[in-house]
Amino acid sequence: MPSSPSQTPLAAILAARIRERGPITFADYMAACLYHPEHGYYSRAESRRFADYYTSVDVHPIFGRLLARQLAEMWEGCGRPAKFAVVEAGAGVGRLAAHILDFAARALPEFYAALCYTAVEQSAARRAAQAAALSAHSAAGHGESSETLPAAIPVGCILSNELLDALPVHRVLRERGALREIYVGLNGDVFCEQVGPLSTSALDKYFAEQGIALLEGQQAEAGLAAAAWLEDAARRLGRGFLLTIDYGREARELYDERHLRGTLLAYTRHRAGEDFFAAPGEQDLTAHVNFTAFDLAAARAGCARAGLVSQFSFLLALGKANEFADLYDEGQTEAGHVRARLLLKTLIFSEGMGETFSVLIHTKDVANPSLTGLAPL
Ligand SMILES: C[S@@+](CC[C@H](N)C(=O)[O-])C[C@H]1O[C@@H](n2cnc3c(N)ncnc32)[C@H](O)[C@@H]1O
Repeated sequence: MPSSPSQTPLAAILAARIRERGPITFADYMAACLYHPEHGYYSRAESRRFADYYTSVDVHPIFGRLLARQLAEMWEGCGRPAKFAVVEAGAGVGRLAAHILDFAARALPEFYAALCYTAVEQSAARRAAQAAALSAHSAAGHGESSETLPAAIPVGCILSNELLDALPVHRVLRERGALREIYVGLNGDVFCEQVGPLSTSALDKYFAEQGIALLEGQQAEAGLAAAAWLEDAARRLGRGFLLTIDYGREARELYDERHLRGTLLAYTRHRAGEDFFAAPGEQDLTAHVNFTAFDLAAARAGCARAGLVSQFSFLLALGKANEFADLYDEGQTEAGHVRARLLLKTLIFSEGMGETFSVLIHTKDVANPSLTGLAPL
């Protein structure tokens, strides 16, 4: 469905740019929609957050508590260093950071003593909101906010939850046996798709190195930015882990005949649609991530895959050791316990988030780490 550029302030800016300089790649369009400094969907504070989407972090603190247990085990696997960095990228308002730090302080004191948590968030408005969530831990020297990844992370874990599916993607199409790119152009006053030559040879390389040949007429996304982000993050890590939580697939499933139009979706008010040009800057745009491409990117920076499991399997493996005792807060009533158990189901079972999301762990220079979250059930 076409959309008029006058719809939002960002639409007008993008339309002017296309009129002046010609069609732009979908990746440039998506980058502006999500990250334009003034009008980008993720540049603003979280005012519309629950109106459009929520993540596992918002369901119940058990998600962060079980992650804290996994992180503590990673610290053990690195030989219990005196300082262990946990760098959470795309940390939003710091909700997950607070859940992890609060739980570590309460239940994992030795790990907490070593823990240096950095919540990395590009949006200044969201970073400002982190101050309240992290204040006690910042004062104790265990937590800080940052706009960018630290230059070097000697030993630790780089963690992200639903960051990489929110990075811009290029869109391509196989036409007469060759890859072509889908650009964003203008038809009069209306945004439209325009097919043209590839904007970068990195697109051909991306598919070739994964052994992917699209079918004739098939459309697909290429997450060059997500792969580049992961490679850059992995290079900054001296020793330790990358823990990536997102919804996605291996390349062979992502680009198969069930995905002839790709996986890109626009979200507004919990409804998914394919009108990518509606209200630029006011709706979320997201595509499945490609775990195969992440392995190749991580390998270029000296990291190897330790495992890929569903969120269901990850949380169950970590929680079953103490029968999910971490679900409950001190002094909670029985009704509170029941509610907590119901929320856990949302996180774990397939009709909720359990089978939709996956957990991918890479290691760098850590011999045979024990990672309970990856253990078979
Ligand atoms: C979908 S939200 C997820 C937020 C949070 N992880 C959660 O689970 O609620 C993605 C977040 O990543 C941030 N982000 C995107 N690119 C980033 C980057 N390169 N560095 C840091 N933060 C980034 C966005 O501003 C946004 O807050």
